[in-house]
Amino acid sequence: MTYEIATIPGDGIGPEVIDATLPLFEAAAANHDADIEFVTYDWGSDYYIENGQMMPDDGIDKIRGSDSILLGAVGHPDVPDHVTLHGLLLPIRKQFNQQVCKRPSILFDGVESPLVGYSGGDIDFVLFRENTEGEYSDIGGREHIGFEHEIAIQSSVFTRSGTEAILRAAFEAATERENHLTSITKSNAQAYSMVFWDELVEEMSEEYPDVDVERILVDAASMDFIRRPEEFDVVVASNLFGDILTDIGAIVTGSMGLAPSGNINVEGEYPSMFEPVHGSAPDIMGEGVANPMAMILSGAMMFEEFGETAVSDSLWDAVQSVLEDDDAPTPPDLGGSATTQEIVSEVERRL
Ligand code: NAI
Ligand code: MG
Repeated sequence: MTYEIATIPGDGIGPEVIDATLPLFEAAAANHDADIEFVTYDWGSDYYIENGQMMPDDGIDKIRGSDSILLGAVGHPDVPDHVTLHGLLLPIRKQFNQQVCKRPSILFDGVESPLVGYSGGDIDFVLFRENTEGEYSDIGGREHIGFEHEIAIQSSVFTRSGTEAILRAAFEAATERENHLTSITKSNAQAYSMVFWDELVEEMSEEYPDVDVERILVDAASMDFIRRPEEFDVVVASNLFGDILTDIGAIVTGSMGLAPSGNINVEGEYPSMFEPVHGSAPDIMGEGVANPMAMILSGAMMFEEFGETAVSDSLWDAVQSVLEDDDAPTPPDLGGSATTQEIVSEVERRL
């Protein structure tokens, strides 16, 4: 079978890392007799500036039949961030019911953590972020704009099915790893939504008696991601908290340029979407120096989702091999001066 992959390069360094990595994915797939075909869509902020919307009206329908989606990044200095996010990224996550966002944070051999005393292998956890509701629900409004009594309301939505979906994914992952799960909430302050979350954790933990569950409030967790990241293994959090904590996870493991992510449609009814954790990085766009490894590892997660583990493993191993080799080119975010293309070529040589 041929996997049809919709690619959306998007904005900023998105197209730079996508353009450089697609040939690498083709080479990795070919090595293991997996057939892939990319269909590229020019949606994003330039499309918005031209057409007044981030993707065409039938955008979702166009990619619905794909086996997967690879996204670069969105975000443009001339377009408000809520427009880019709500016009492309969030509709895809929601309309394809990608309830589970999976984000590994691994300190690779050869990568320096900004934390003193940590070396390769010391940090290795995966965060499961609720991905279609919570604090990022599109429910709310603005009224009396410009008056003293102007109001803005943004509602958080926690459903039993959505919360159970993310908890289930996290508990399952915990059984496959170290049987240790950390649930992060703010249930001291948010006594409805987060207490509900805690109760569902409690309920589900009865189905997973071997999994030891730790509960931490998000403020303390932010500290602990820096103070004792080595103690986390599987972490589960709501949409907003997961978003914030995975940036901490990315930086304590070396760089935003290394952090991959998968937005998973658990039932497999719709395509899942794989993308780096980073954004469009306008500060380095056009310079050809973006680290493509986050994109490469996101692709590796996609192949794993396909069940093409040999392709996935070859990409993880090749990236690891480049990182741990002192003589290999190093991208600027990790202290070197190699270009995006040089990194991709080096990874490809080591497939
Ligand atoms: P960012 O992730 O784009 O950049 C943060 C910092 O990390 C910057 O200094 C950047 O140069 C660096 N960085 C990021 N990726 C890198 C890479 N691959 N190699 C080397 N350095 C890298 O976050 P920022 O600056 O907050 O947001 C920029 C734009 O991206 C905004 O418009 C924002 O809304 C959007 N954004 C989009 C996301 C997405 O598409 N999923 C996620 C986060 C932000
Ligand atoms: Mg983020």
